[in-house]
Amino acid sequence: MNFIYKDPLAPIEARIKDLLSQMTIPEKIAQMTQIERSVATPSAIKDLSIGSILSAGGSGPFENAKTSDWAAMADTFQKAALQSRLGIPLLYGIDAVHGNNNVYGATIFPHNIGLGATRDADLARRIGAAAALEVRASGIHYTFAPCVANHECFGETRVDKLSDDANMFVVSLVCRDPRWGRAYESFGEDPQIVKMMTSMVTGFQGQPPHGHPSGYPFVAGRENVVACAKHFVGDGGTRNGVNEGDTVSSYDELERTHVSPYLDCIAQGVCTIMASYSSWNGTKLHSSRFLLTEILKEKLGFKGFIISDSEALDRLSSPHGSNYQQSILSAITAGIDMVMVPLRYQLFLADLLHLVESGKIPITRIDDAVVRILRVKFAAGLFEHPLSDSSLLGTVRCEQHKQLAREAVRKSLVLLKNGPDSTRPFLPLDRNAKRILVVGKHADDLGYQCGGWTATWEGKSGRITTGTTILEAIREVVGAKTEVIYEENPSESINRSDYSFAIAVVGEAPYVESGGDSSDLKIHFNGAELASAVADQVPTLVILISGRPLAIDPQLLNKAHALVAAWLPGSEGNGVVDVIFGDHGFQGRLPMTWFKDVAQLPMQAESNSYDPLFPVGYGLTTSGSNDALKG
Ligand code: GLC
Repeated sequence: MNFIYKDPLAPIEARIKDLLSQMTIPEKIAQMTQIERSVATPSAIKDLSIGSILSAGGSGPFENAKTSDWAAMADTFQKAALQSRLGIPLLYGIDAVHGNNNVYGATIFPHNIGLGATRDADLARRIGAAAALEVRASGIHYTFAPCVANHECFGETRVDKLSDDANMFVVSLVCRDPRWGRAYESFGEDPQIVKMMTSMVTGFQGQPPHGHPSGYPFVAGRENVVACAKHFVGDGGTRNGVNEGDTVSSYDELERTHVSPYLDCIAQGVCTIMASYSSWNGTKLHSSRFLLTEILKEKLGFKGFIISDSEALDRLSSPHGSNYQQSILSAITAGIDMVMVPLRYQLFLADLLHLVESGKIPITRIDDAVVRILRVKFAAGLFEHPLSDSSLLGTVRCEQHKQLAREAVRKSLVLLKNGPDSTRPFLPLDRNAKRILVVGKHADDLGYQCGGWTATWEGKSGRITTGTTILEAIREVVGAKTEVIYEENPSESINRSDYSFAIAVVGEAPYVESGGDSSDLKIHFNGAELASAVADQVPTLVILISGRPLAIDPQLLNKAHALVAAWLPGSEGNGVVDVIFGDHGFQGRLPMTWFKDVAQLPMQAESNSYDPLFPVGYGLTTSGSNDALKG
């Protein structure tokens, strides 16, 4: 039969109406279900008409699987979906949050905190576009990115009178809290930075044509992916930076600080928005009809779909997963459209079916969710191009993408100290020096310089993918007669006269989500002591590899001849070397306040007691030899 929904020339809304009219209730419910690949089977996908699959952090066909292996896996699931009764294609989702980071050999870009230091919206867009190519090459259509958490929290609210006569008050932004384990996934603390960096959505999805209806999902074509702005809303504003905690604020301040970046995403046609595990004033986001439906869908006009976070419905009741049916009722009624179950999907399907058949959830709510999901699938061209495109395999960590990542690394570096004073700069370093000492675990560890969400969920040490470590880049750039000595952890004392200078690369081991929440924000592996001991003997540049500002001992700051915040640069460590040896200048500026002592946190911003080590926006600049060439 010639169905309208199968006609690519028919208007999307007509295709949706036609398809919806033919769907059974179980098929509608299955479209609202996202399951993890490890529990997915082709037969279940075909028989149930499951709407979506995801790869959770690190979940792939096998260890070190290449892009083509991923594409084969994704296509197997998709072919099963195309054999379902109505042939509705699957949407396959993954956390490609700094490149296609689950996949071995993909280009790994700096994490968002480093991109925030660049304040370069066009760079963020280009990175989104490059990542989209590598994701589509792997047969995947959907990324749970960008994270547009605005890194503000409200330890306590201070209200200042705006003017003598006005009754309006402003709730001042009263703190910044790097203790949050997901700080590196955010673009920083300034809503204006976060808003400008949402250009990554256009990178992922493509540029909507002039006049595209605001809030309507848009995907340009087969080289783009469905994006997901997350985590709505206030995930980065919880008390004391506790992940999945409670953001306490007035609605006006929540809207001004945390909702605001979503306006930019919606204006770019973002297809999906993920709800946050966290709460607002004690109400879990996943059960907040006010924020999910009245604000996001009705007031802001978002017409894509809202997806839950992983097992977020289980976390609505305690103990975890108890009274699951009540949690489903609460979340779907609040406005969740697709549920990232991701494992116990048979239970989810049965409970939701019962809730619909018993009338507790009206079919109109189900239809609203399915319409939104189909709208995204039609807008993404999934019905026309459901399978992987092997012609894209050549884009994976291609020279152009490596250069783009290297540019991003360069622009993300923040120079915090350069010599004892501005008249005697320590950087750029002399690449023809006689002997250079390099120390620290992070100098030669690709996994550490990539951070969390790389190869595995948490990230890990070692050669986890292809790339260039900072040490490898140093060896490549120095003169033929220059000797580079690497000692991860120099034990015996160092003889000053043996070396021209030292480079100490220290920082954090990878972490993810709540595993990254930290109360002390110390440099790991005694890196501060190591750097300090070396700096006692030899003029030393200290490079910090971290997902956020860390506690810097005043002695270390005093002893270091120079100090650079490199964040989590990713696979192209040569971007760091381009700048410290002077080919390019420093231009990065802090995306977050750098505290003096964790006892100051949450930092009292815009108040007399705001006394940071380095304020947000701080960064020394230098000029590079190649920058001049750029003209
Ligand atoms: C995680 C994260 C979310 C991610 C999702 C799928 O728990 O909170 O950011 O997209 O699960 O991996």
